[in-house]
Formats: sequence, structure tokens, C-alpha cells
Amino acid sequence: MKRIAVLTGGGDAPGLNAVIRAVVKTAINDYGCEVLGVRDGYDGFIAAGGTLPLDLAAVRGILPRGGTILGTANRGNPFARKVQRDGREVVVDVSDEIISAIQNLKLDALIVIGGDGTLRIAMELGAKGVPVVGVPKTIDNDIGGTEVTFGFDTALMIATEALDRLHTTAEAHHRVMVLELMGRDAGFIALHSGVSGGADVILIPEIPFKFEAVIRKVRERAEAGSHFSLLAVSEGARPLGGQTVYRRAGDEVYVPRLGGIGQEVGQYIELQGFETRVTVLGHVQRGGSPTAFDRWLATRYGAAAVRTAAAAGFGRMVALRDGKVIDIPLNDALAVPKRVDLNGDAVLTARGLGISFGDG
Ligand code: F6P
Repeated sequence: MKRIAVLTGGGDAPGLNAVIRAVVKTAINDYGCEVLGVRDGYDGFIAAGGTLPLDLAAVRGILPRGGTILGTANRGNPFARKVQRDGREVVVDVSDEIISAIQNLKLDALIVIGGDGTLRIAMELGAKGVPVVGVPKTIDNDIGGTEVTFGFDTALMIATEALDRLHTTAEAHHRVMVLELMGRDAGFIALHSGVSGGADVILIPEIPFKFEAVIRKVRERAEAGSHFSLLAVSEGARPLGGQTVYRRAGDEVYVPRLGGIGQEVGQYIELQGFETRVTVLGHVQRGGSPTAFDRWLATRYGAAAVRTAAAAGFGRMVALRDGKVIDIPLNDALAVPKRVDLNGDAVLTARGLGISFGDG
């Protein structure tokens, strides 16, 4: 292995820089290999100045830093790129251009750090002969085949702290506090932080809720003397028989933006006579320094990805199973998206604690 490249794609997650650092250090120290960084996801292969050499000095000091020194893009699908042609917007396939740019660079491996969308593109490039190795990233924790993605733990810490802070002000003012959390179609962030932050109601996409059941819980608490309630609401949660709530439609060909269900739940509760405030935590969940766990996992993933590349394990993704970092076919990882197990111990634990999922 003489030359490899690394890129980060999709929404950022705390720990991306820790992976990049581990890739560079392991490739240089263990394999004497040259490493190129690719800027802004796959776009860097076809942009002027889109690749840069990464040596040990380039990754010094980046372990605790959020974001990604390479930049990222979640609108850069080479197989379906939106471009302007003759004043009209059209979708074109630029994958061949990207593949020939990769071939010109004479890469022995391309390490792709990304979520579901970015890894799916990696798999398609792999099918066209690009030697890819995947590293699973997302605060949503929704990638199959791995117990956890890096970035999730940091998002949980931030969400839990937000719930703790909302708890005290909710109690002081005898209010209902609704916290809308990220996660797309998976409820892991709301479920885990909701349990860790003592939420009374947790609404997740996997369990459609009834407004009446939510208000019943708030009322029961008030009648028992707790004149405040805390709700952790996943952005993908939806009422039984209702629709997922999206933000105003805009430039969303690639990834429709979720958001607004927190406000709908808050309005309903307010109309039932309980003073309510809604907080949307948003991108705070993705920014800033990774937790120790995420740094540890990201570093192990980065190093393992280089070892997988050296063993010609192309078309594979590093993953965590039973506490060990292994590698699995990308195909298997992406076959079924990971969702909250309705019979798993996390949901049972929450129910046992008296937390409502709004389905009772
Ligand atoms: O997938 C990560 C994530 O943060 C989701 O939880 C969220 O729905 C989405 O990305 C937000 O994307 P954007 O950064 O494009 O607003």
C-alpha cells in the first residue's frame, strides 16, 4: 500500500477529525504510506485544489476538535448531482468523472467516513472498481451492522445536558418543556437521552403516538403534585395515522429536512391548559468537541480502516460488535437501517420507569 486517500461526507459528527488523525498516523507509522485528504466529500476529486497531502504535522492537535478539517458535503452524490444547464436545473451522473480522477491519483485505497448516504455512494463506487473502505459516522446511530457509530455519544451528552437544564426551569415555572431532538427516522437520541435526562414522555419515530396519551401523562403528573413535565421528542416522531413533519420545502433534492413536530406537540399541550415551551436543540447536537468515548471509538475505527485497506478488504466497513472492532461487507451494513428495537431493553427500561411513549 503506497498511497491512500480519506474523505468525510454527509452531515458532520464529533469525532471525524479523530478518525482522520488515526488514519494518517496508522498509514504513515505502520505502513510508510502516503495519505491524501479529499475536501468536501466526493466533490474534492473534481474540484480544483480538492486534494491535499496529509502528513503527521497536518493532523497535529485535531483530536479534540469538532467538525472536519477536510470539510464535508451532504449534497454531493456523484450519481445524481443537481446542476444548472441552459438556465434549467437538471440531475446528472458525474460518477465516471470522479472515478477517472480517482484512477489518475493511483490510490491503493479510499477510506470513506460517512453515514448511510455517503457509504451507499462508496458501495456503488466500489462496484465500479474503486477500492473503498467505509467508516460509519452519524449522531443518529442508524447504521446497521455496528453497535454504535461515533458522534452518537457526544450528541447524547449534549441532549442529556439540555434536558437537565430544562428540568430545573420547568420545575421552577410549573411548565411543560418540549425538547425536539435530531435523529431522522431513528429514535436513539431521544430515547437514550430521554432516559438519561429523566424525561416523562419520549416520542420516537418507531412508536407512533397519540396526542391524548401524551396529555394524559402530563395531567397524571399534575394530579399527583408534579406541576411540570419534560418531553424528549425525536424530529421524526409522528402521530398515529399522521405524517412526519418536514420544514418548509426548499433546496431539498438530496435530503429532506425534518423538523416541527416539537412545536405541534407543544401547541397541543398548551391548548389543553398547560403552559408549555418548546426548544429545538438542532445543530448544537453535532458541534464541538467529541466525548472521550467518541474519540476512542473514532480512533479505533480509523486505525482499523487502514488495516482493512492493507489487507485488501475493499467494499467493507469497520464496525463495533461485542466491544471489538471488526470489518463487515458494506452491503450487509446498508441492507437494513438500524432502528430502535421495540422489545429491546432500552424501551422496556423506559416503560418500567413509567416513561410514556404516547402509545398507551
Ligand atoms: O443525520 C444527521 C442529522 O443531524 C440528522 O439528525 C438531521 O435530521 C440532519 O442531519 C440535519 O441535516 P442538515 O445539517 O442538512 O440540516
